[in-house]
Amino acid sequence: MLLGQKYVTDDWTNVTPSIIAKLERNLHVQQYHPLSHLRQRIVNYFYGQFRSKSGTPSFSIYDNICPVVTVEQNFDSLLVPKDHPSRKKTDCYFINQDTLLRAHTTAHQAELISMGLNNFLVIGDVYRRDEIDRTHYPIFHQVDAVRLRTSQEIFCNVNDSENLKLFEHRGTESADKQACHSLEAVKVMEQELKSTLTSLAQAIFGKDVQCRWVDQYFPFTHPSWELEILHNDDWLEILGCGIMRQEILQKSGATDRIGWAFGLGLERLAMRLYNIPDIRLFWSNDTGFLNQFKVDEPNVHIQYKPISIYPPCINDISFWLPEDGSYSSHDFYDIAREIGGDVIEQILLKDEFIHPKTKKTSHCYSIVYRHMERTLTQNAVNKIHNEVGKAIAAKLNVVIR
Ligand code: PHE
Repeated sequence: MLLGQKYVTDDWTNVTPSIIAKLERNLHVQQYHPLSHLRQRIVNYFYGQFRSKSGTPSFSIYDNICPVVTVEQNFDSLLVPKDHPSRKKTDCYFINQDTLLRAHTTAHQAELISMGLNNFLVIGDVYRRDEIDRTHYPIFHQVDAVRLRTSQEIFCNVNDSENLKLFEHRGTESADKQACHSLEAVKVMEQELKSTLTSLAQAIFGKDVQCRWVDQYFPFTHPSWELEILHNDDWLEILGCGIMRQEILQKSGATDRIGWAFGLGLERLAMRLYNIPDIRLFWSNDTGFLNQFKVDEPNVHIQYKPISIYPPCINDISFWLPEDGSYSSHDFYDIAREIGGDVIEQILLKDEFIHPKTKKTSHCYSIVYRHMERTLTQNAVNKIHNEVGKAIAAKLNVVIR
């Protein structure tokens, strides 16, 4: 049972109980939660920036769409190639071979366009199997946006606009545009997309934030870019965006429009904005964390002050991998999380070694244990650590050394 629905399981099923337990948290709409403040600031920006002639906001907001989606929604509808690495079982949480927890909020794009929407934001929780450290967590939150425009809308301010068209029939794809688009339509869209997003970055991080654009690739947009901002002397990638693949609009019935889209991750921004040092804090129910964000105005400047940092315990674990190649480190991370929960701060691959005679591979990992609200005893850590060892020996066919 997931969110009141029954699903069949099969050999693709890899969702874990600790992930399922968090499906109903919806941090992005939890009152006073930092992710909710940031979501509200982004929504307010779009409400303020885009209004119809009568003054009503153009963008509609979808922030409670169920995260259980089909492979078709998450990948096929977005033209993700059948052999694309993001489809792998080691990277996503599958409920069964046709159903998964969405890996991005873009999964809902085609459906919302089919419903006739031209301007919308989708905000929600997304799920990815990944490394374990202070900036990665298997669940995070994204904001996706789509804006579709007709020829009339984008060329209305241009002098001889009768000669300007969205589409071109014998075009070819280049770095600048898709085959079917006219260069002038793409340039107008690119300009609106980029100015919208740099002013969004300024609305969040202040007028003086430095931005730069980097070319990118996404299966569902072309051309595509990433926006980076300079933060504490580091260029930080904050979002991906681009001109939507016309095939997606065509299949969804928006044949007379051209569109731009973007997607951004809330945690990454919120950690910088509020100075939150560890991604696990977003999931904390501790009042020492939550009370620092108890403000009614989402624009209030807040800098999180760690109550104290409790000391870590670091234990190593080494094992021989099975010889059939079935080992994936992401399986190990999920099992460790299942047993240790949020007490596991980081898992580091310390050493990989191939035995010269037997040719067997051995991995050595350091597991960093740290509780967010108290000091852990070495005894308590050893217990968890032994459980982890037993579980992976049983489930992953590895041999502990
Ligand atoms: N879905 C992409 C991601 O998760 C972001 C994106 C959305 C890029 C929309 C382009 C357009 O990384």
